[in-house]
Amino acid sequence: AEALRVGIAGLGTVGASVARVLRDKAAELTRQCGRDIVVSAVSARDPKRDRGVDLGAAKWFDDATKMAQTADIDVFVELIGGDEGTARSSVKAALEAGRHVVTANKALLAKHGVQLAEIAERKGVLLNYEAAVAGGIPVIKTMREAMAGNSITRVFGILNGTCNYILTRMEAEGLSFDACLKDAQRLGYAEADPTFDIEGHDTAHKLSILTSLAFGTRIAANDIYMEGISNISQADIRAAGDLGYRIKLLGVAQRTESGIEQRVHPTMVPTASVIAQVHGVTNAVAIETDILGELLLSGPGAGGNATASAVVGDIADIAKSRPGFQHGPVFGRPTKELKPYKKAQ
Ligand code: NDP
Ligand code: HSE
Repeated sequence: AEALRVGIAGLGTVGASVARVLRDKAAELTRQCGRDIVVSAVSARDPKRDRGVDLGAAKWFDDATKMAQTADIDVFVELIGGDEGTARSSVKAALEAGRHVVTANKALLAKHGVQLAEIAERKGVLLNYEAAVAGGIPVIKTMREAMAGNSITRVFGILNGTCNYILTRMEAEGLSFDACLKDAQRLGYAEADPTFDIEGHDTAHKLSILTSLAFGTRIAANDIYMEGISNISQADIRAAGDLGYRIKLLGVAQRTESGIEQRVHPTMVPTASVIAQVHGVTNAVAIETDILGELLLSGPGAGGNATASAVVGDIADIAKSRPGFQHGPVFGRPTKELKPYKKAQ
């Protein structure tokens, strides 16, 4: 079979890791997919910056949207970030040009996911976004593919690695909030603007995607009750501990009599509970259903390798898909048939 040609836009923490994994694991991926995967185009802001990875013969583009439209690629991988600007225009252009898209950009999907899904479905191409929720945990595939027939009543979890890393180290090592945040940034866990992490926006973006998959509602990140962790002090953590609790930033979406409730806030969880044992950059997602009961997935939630694992998995899925195969709806149900969303109570 012909090689799958990939264009990567964004060569930062995630983009450089994806390029590295595609190169280092080329033989393994060829064996698994039945064809080669080659990086044939790349784009970032600074053409001179050393990315720490051999980009081979990949063609450089200053303009990611132009790359999405004109490069000789089958898949456009968006790892720029941001819910407008080049991230949005390039993804839209790639889909309109009939190219598959892989993205880790939850902010973009939370704001424009339905519109982008409609283009992908109309064009018959894939819009894969496993890395956008809970880093390396394969929660999207689990919900879209492995849980067919289940009716979900509640989905909740720790969806932001930066916040969990900060809370864990503040408790275990008595460090200050600011020192922990700096380390999370240095390790590549935090968003370009870390306010998105610590004020709960990033968790809300991810939760809105999970809610849509779980309940077939239109993505509605703006309707989420949201409170971050920036006001959590050592005194709060100690007081919770004295009472037998640990503070975690949770995202919760559940079916209620008055509609789907979505909320993000620091939560006191019993120290002996499973969710309280989720430490550091690890994320966890609990899904409660009528058939399966309760499922808990946990694993690395941020960072280059963890995120690259999910992005490469999405690319490999495209490499394995058959030409002419009719792809299913992007968010699990036909976007035209989404039920009206009821605001959280
Ligand atoms: P970085 O800030 O490390 O990298 C962003 C990259 O985008 C840089 O290479 C930058 O170029 C490039 N870039 C910026 N503007 C443009 C533009 N206009 N055209 C082309 N390239 C551009 O971000 P991350 O790698 O951390 O995150 C990327 C995406 O992945 C975001 O959507 C983020 O939310 C998501 N994500 C991140 C995770 C993580 O753990 N870091 C985990 C899951 C998702 P240059 O290097 O030249 O400045
Ligand atoms: N900033 C995000 C986090 C990256 O810390 O969880 C992964 O989505």
